[in-house]
Amino acid sequence: MDATPQEFDRVLSSMCTRPHPAAARAAERFLADNPGDPATYPDVATLEERAVATLGDVTGLDDPAGYVASGGTEANLQAVRAARDRAASGDPTVVAPTSVHFSFQKAADVLGVDLHLVPVDDDHRADTDALAAAIDDDTALVVAVAGTTEFGRVDPIPEVGSIAREAGARFHVDAAWGGFHLPFTDHAWHFGHASLDTLTIDPHKVGRAPIPAGGFLARDEATLDALAVETPYLETTSQATLTGTRSGAGVAGAAAALDEQWPDAYEENHERAAANAVHLAEQLTDRGYDVVAPELPLVAFSLSDAEFDAARDAGWRLSRTGSGEARVVCMPHVTRAMLDAFLDTLDAARVGASG
Ligand SMILES: Cc1ncc(COP(=O)(O)O)c(C=O)c1O
Repeated sequence: MDATPQEFDRVLSSMCTRPHPAAARAAERFLADNPGDPATYPDVATLEERAVATLGDVTGLDDPAGYVASGGTEANLQAVRAARDRAASGDPTVVAPTSVHFSFQKAADVLGVDLHLVPVDDDHRADTDALAAAIDDDTALVVAVAGTTEFGRVDPIPEVGSIAREAGARFHVDAAWGGFHLPFTDHAWHFGHASLDTLTIDPHKVGRAPIPAGGFLARDEATLDALAVETPYLETTSQATLTGTRSGAGVAGAAAALDEQWPDAYEENHERAAANAVHLAEQLTDRGYDVVAPELPLVAFSLSDAEFDAARDAGWRLSRTGSGEARVVCMPHVTRAMLDAFLDTLDAARVGASG
């Protein structure tokens, strides 16, 4: 085979990163295990319990229910499914800010529920008044995001939680990306801060677990029970996950990544990434770019097509938000030296354009 995996030294917009070496080793050892059948594969099942318990520590929940999913998409879909199946309305809907990840469109499509997207405020956060106004008797689930994909914004989680509770709807928080930054900030975002029912937090993003390792957590076991179907031919008698056979590599990698890094190495990563984001934002502002001030370590900024193309031609893996800003996600592999080299590329592009 002559294909080469992507090098990360110029990857700026992705939410994937190099796995932690201990996590990569653990993943390789459990490549053939199937956590989808825990009775036949008990060791990887024990690792999954450990991973879920540690995700509970990260998200302020003792003894959480949950599992290591294929990614944030599956975790979000399961949250919608759990709400749909328990809804009183015969026509259940989901209310969410427009900043939610596109996985909610897939979930709504697959599950046959309407997704009502509500405009965000001027700073890209959920607008609580607009959300409250959009909720009605059919609303089965309200969603908020703790670390949006495009701008790294944290919605007002306790306030949105109260609105959902008053309306009798379930409440889900998508912290797929932000979940390993937020414990080291002043934000209120997790089970301990608000009455949320379910939460997405992905070890395969900032957690440095190998792909596939998403995280689906629920406040109570009843949520998982409601998702479970009987599995007659397996040693295990029921299954709450969306996929059947699952990656033992993903589960073991997540368990090892969490064992190795929670909390100290995650805190160090957060401090480094936050400082890098501030540095990049300041450097861009000094050069006259319009920068969306970073809240979590993600910098969005205006960039002309010519400069964007020059950056891509220089090998930078860079993408734009739906509204056109270039975005740099300060993932664990993104170093200060990388950001300075990226700024050099932009400087050369501007000199080239003006000269
Ligand atoms: C906030 C958020 N939720 C969900 C997802 C989907 O996760 P995955 O690609 O692992 O399915 C992403 C992906 O970037 C995300 O940023």
